[in-house]
Amino acid sequence: MPQPPVIMVARTLPGPCEVRLAHEFVLRRPPGEAPHAPRDLLAAAEGCEGLLVTVSEKLDRATIEALPPGIRVIATMSVGFDHIDVAAARARGLIVTNTPDVLTDATADLTLLLLLGAARRAKEAMALIAENRWGAWSPTAMLGVDIGRRRLGILGLGRIGAAVARRARAFGMEVHYHNRRRAAPAVEDGAIWHDTLDGLLAVSDVLALNAASTPETRGIIDRRALALLPEGAILINSARGDLVDDEAVIEALESGRLLAAGLDVFRGEPKLDPRYRDLPNVFALPHIGSATVETRVAMGMLAIDNLAAVLAGDGRPLTPVT
Ligand code: DGY
Repeated sequence: MPQPPVIMVARTLPGPCEVRLAHEFVLRRPPGEAPHAPRDLLAAAEGCEGLLVTVSEKLDRATIEALPPGIRVIATMSVGFDHIDVAAARARGLIVTNTPDVLTDATADLTLLLLLGAARRAKEAMALIAENRWGAWSPTAMLGVDIGRRRLGILGLGRIGAAVARRARAFGMEVHYHNRRRAAPAVEDGAIWHDTLDGLLAVSDVLALNAASTPETRGIIDRRALALLPEGAILINSARGDLVDDEAVIEALESGRLLAAGLDVFRGEPKLDPRYRDLPNVFALPHIGSATVETRVAMGMLAIDNLAAVLAGDGRPLTPVT
C-alpha cells in the first residue's frame, strides 16, 4: 500500500478539514503561533511534497527558492495569492492553487456589512451601548445616510464584485464599475462600465474595492484618486489593504472629504495604523470577509482537493492560479 503524501499545513483548519487531512496525508506543522517566520515554514516543509498555507504565510521569492526540492505544490486556502511569489514558484516548476468561488457570497455579504456599518455610523452607535452612554431616543442623533439611490462604484467587477453588485441593487443602488476590459453582459448585469478609473471615481458616492493586489493596483487609491470622488463619498475595502494609500485615506477621513470608510483589510495587517482605530467614521473589521463556518470549510476542502489531485490523483489541480 503506497504511503500517503507528506505535506506541511501551516495553520489549524476547521474540524472537518482536519479530519480529512489526517486520513489522506502525513502532516507536518510549523512550531509556535502564526504568523510563522519563513525559517519555521522552511524547517517544517523539510521532507514534504506539498504546502497548505493561508494569506498569513508570506512566500516571497527567497522563501520559495529555499523550499526543499521535494515540494511540488503550494495550495493556498484563499482566493487572493498576492502573498505568494507565483513567478518564483513557476520558475521552480511548482504548481500554485487557490480557492476561488467558494468564498464569493460570504465576502460579498461582508462587503455590504462594511457599507451599511460605515453609512449608518455603526461604530459610534455601538460605542453608545458598550460605554453605557445611550440617552433618550433623539430625532437628531446618530444620523447616517441612506444608501438607496446612491451610486456604487466597484473597482474590479470579478466574481466578488459582481456578487456585491447584486446585493447593492437590492438596496436600490445604481451600480458602476471599472475593469480594464468591459465584463461579459451576464456579469455586468446592467452595471455601467467606465473605461477609466477616473471616470468611475467621478460617479462613486460609494467606492468599493474588489480588485486583486497586483503591481498595477497597489496604492491605486491615493490622494489624486480620492480628490476625484464626490464630496462626502464612502470608501469600502474588502479586497487588500495595499490598494490604498493610508496617509491619503486618513487625511480624507479626518477632513470629512470622505464621510466614512468600511475596512476589512489593512496594509501590514494584523498591525494597522492606530488612527483607523480612533477615527469615529471608520468601521473596521479584522479581515473576516470569508469567515463563516460553511465558507471556511469549503475553502479548506478545496485546498485539500487541490493537494490530493496533484499528489495522489492525476496530477491536475482543480483550481490552479492563472
Ligand atoms: C482571500 O481568500 O483572499 C481572503 O482575503 C481571505 O479569506
